Amino acid sequence: MSPAQTQRASVVPNDLAAYWLPFTPNRAFKAAPRLFARAKDMHYYTPEGRAVLDGTAGLWCTNAGHNRDPIVQAIGAQAAALDYAPAFQFAHPKAFELAGRIAALAPGDLDHVFFCNSGSEAVDTALKIALAYHHVRGEGARTRLIGRERGYHGVGFGGISVGGIVANRRFFGTLLAGVDHLPATYSREHQAFTIGEPDWGAHLADELERIVALHDASTIAAVIVEPMAGSTGVLPPPKGYLQRLRAICDKHRLLLIFDEVITGFGRLGAAFAAERYGVIPDLITFAKGITSGSVPMGGVIARAPIYEAFMRGPEHVAELFHGYTYSAHPLACAAALAALDLYRDEDLFARAKRLEPLWGEAAMGLKDLPHVLDIRTVGLTAGIDLAPRPDAPGRRGYDAMAKAFHEENLVIRVTGDTIALTPPLIVSEGEIGEIFDKTARLIKAVG
Ligand SMILES: Cc1ncc(COP(=O)(O)O)c(C=O)c1O
Repeated sequence: MSPAQTQRASVVPNDLAAYWLPFTPNRAFKAAPRLFARAKDMHYYTPEGRAVLDGTAGLWCTNAGHNRDPIVQAIGAQAAALDYAPAFQFAHPKAFELAGRIAALAPGDLDHVFFCNSGSEAVDTALKIALAYHHVRGEGARTRLIGRERGYHGVGFGGISVGGIVANRRFFGTLLAGVDHLPATYSREHQAFTIGEPDWGAHLADELERIVALHDASTIAAVIVEPMAGSTGVLPPPKGYLQRLRAICDKHRLLLIFDEVITGFGRLGAAFAAERYGVIPDLITFAKGITSGSVPMGGVIARAPIYEAFMRGPEHVAELFHGYTYSAHPLACAAALAALDLYRDEDLFARAKRLEPLWGEAAMGLKDLPHVLDIRTVGLTAGIDLAPRPDAPGRRGYDAMAKAFHEENLVIRVTGDTIALTPPLIVSEGEIGEIFDKTARLIKAVG
């Protein structure tokens, strides 16, 4: 075997049977696999060495770009120094350093950080903190949780209960009891082809008053929303909507949770969407961008009064009966500290903000292509709705994603027939042009 063949043999699997891929049509995938063997900055490389432009920052997570040297080095050095320390009753210095760095980035008095390993765990952690918070304050009847239609909050039972995606819920029984949902904020009729936050829709926050009137505030613990709903196709909040939600939550003393698993760490041109919108929630969930996707990590940032409410009772007893073996894992903390350094040193959040108008205009350039029903953009994200084929909803989107990889050397993400584009924040102006040129060809090709 030549050296090239040897290298190829070591990275190309010859049996695809055993791996059950998540959120993936397994049979179609195994018939025509899409594999990456390595990555650098804006590109993936297939096992054959073909460069593929990353239009999605992995899964909205590699915000600093791929395999950045400082992150790679930090992970290696940490693995050599301390592989693991027990997360319960013990800790390690980087966990405190990282919590402090995150608290400093978060707005207002959001200054205590609870760590976990994913967005789904972050959501379940936030919901549990909300329930327990009311309990320790003597309002244990506040047990209801309010989510939103078209919301995505991961795949734990808490997350799918407050989430609003029917396919993620319908197979899994009765879910959490006592959950209600706000209406989604999207209306094509009123919002089509908007760059940034649409003018129409702030009044939909008032639905929370209707829900409160139905259940009574004394039974409701918290409201959870994504400031910008990402997974169901980039739905920016209507102007004034989040402010109105905050006011209604204040009036009825409901905790407001922003699920910032996607919007955290620069996606909308600020450290958190809370900062962009000037609305301070009680809890923020984060994951993905915290380590720039390099090591799994998630967490919840809590306002000071929430943390303080728990600091009572005997001092030798844990104040919150919750946590994960890998909470604040040393490798994740090292990767996160290096990622935060990169975001700061390269001013990547400001870069996203600077690129936002150009990005939005470039996306709208696809407006008149066949089957395009709507395009939405905010920060460095774009959602493009394609008309479903009458006989096969989701097929046009799936074909676009597969063709993007095999024929255009581009990674796009699709949800049904909606294309989502969310590149690493290091994307250049030239690469923005490349992403939308390729996407335009794809849309024409799947007509
Ligand atoms: C808003 C939001 N919350 C939670 C999650 C779940 O994150 P994970 O897949 O890390 O569990 C996601 C993932 O996309 C998300 O977008």
